[in-house]
Amino acid sequence: MQLKIQFVVATLVLLIKFSDASSGDHSPFYQKCVAKCEIGNCTEDGKEFKEDTQAYINRITLWNCKQECQYDCMWQTVEAFHERNWRTPQFHGKWPFIRVLGMQEPASVIFSLLNAFIHFKMIKKFREKVRPTCPLVWLWHVYFIVCVHAWFWSAIFHYRDFLITEILDYACAFSIILMNCYLMSIRLLHDKVPKIVLSLVTVFFVFFFMSHAAYLSAGKIDYGYNMELNITVATFSALCWFSWCYYNRKRQKYVWKCAIYVALSGIVLLLELVDSPPYFFLIDHHSLWHLCTAPLVIFIF
Ligand SMILES: *[C@@H]1O[C@H](CO)[C@@H](O)[C@H](O)[C@H]1NC(C)=O
Repeated sequence: MQLKIQFVVATLVLLIKFSDASSGDHSPFYQKCVAKCEIGNCTEDGKEFKEDTQAYINRITLWNCKQECQYDCMWQTVEAFHERNWRTPQFHGKWPFIRVLGMQEPASVIFSLLNAFIHFKMIKKFREKVRPTCPLVWLWHVYFIVCVHAWFWSAIFHYRDFLITEILDYACAFSIILMNCYLMSIRLLHDKVPKIVLSLVTVFFVFFFMSHAAYLSAGKIDYGYNMELNITVATFSALCWFSWCYYNRKRQKYVWKCAIYVALSGIVLLLELVDSPPYFFLIDHHSLWHLCTAPLVIFIF
């Protein structure tokens, strides 16, 4: 098992390191195109347009002149690559996406919001079914808030990728994984240990989250390390959930749902391993991963 995890982590790290091997932004065609466009259309610093020709929606979603030039030249370069029968290249480490209403990666935005929406649906159903006096009702509400908050920032990040939105997205992704671990810990311990231990566990998780968020906000994100940490915590929670489900399979008939949730969450994560140009320049595997996690929420609530 340990070896397998290490293998998956190593593969993920390698994929991230080499994913921008075919770089369209390194091609002379693209570089000349951007330079020419900037000289012709932009002010000296590349931020403003000389003449106000930008679409309103792009202006209010903070696309500057240089980025508009890069976007136009990206498509010209893609076309030039395809004419030579070359594969679709990446630009600045990203695949080309068609911009919709100022959204950088529209599919991921929509599917992130879909996840948030399903959480709202499920908490509503949960509140109808479960009496407020039941133990751990509060815990599910905290889980709900953490998840919806995270999906909101995921949508913002895919709408517009800035350093700050990226940091928030990574911190929020970690908050879901850590929250799941916390949920598991409290669910397993709440009727077995004194309250003070539960408080200590809570404090531990809050500090764990805060220290990683502080690390991310320093701005020099080590993607490999961040991913390893996420995978380690997620794997730990998954193994504990599986053991708990197995142990309680006779007493609590519904635990199969939890096991299915954990197993499927792991399986759909495999989509993250596929790095290929987006279908129709709209739907990539990362967005499909977000699409797949949405229906899984039904199993956990
Ligand atoms: C820059 O100017 C050219 C010529 O007027 C125009 O065709 C092009 O669309 C402009 N590019 C951007 C990004 O505004």
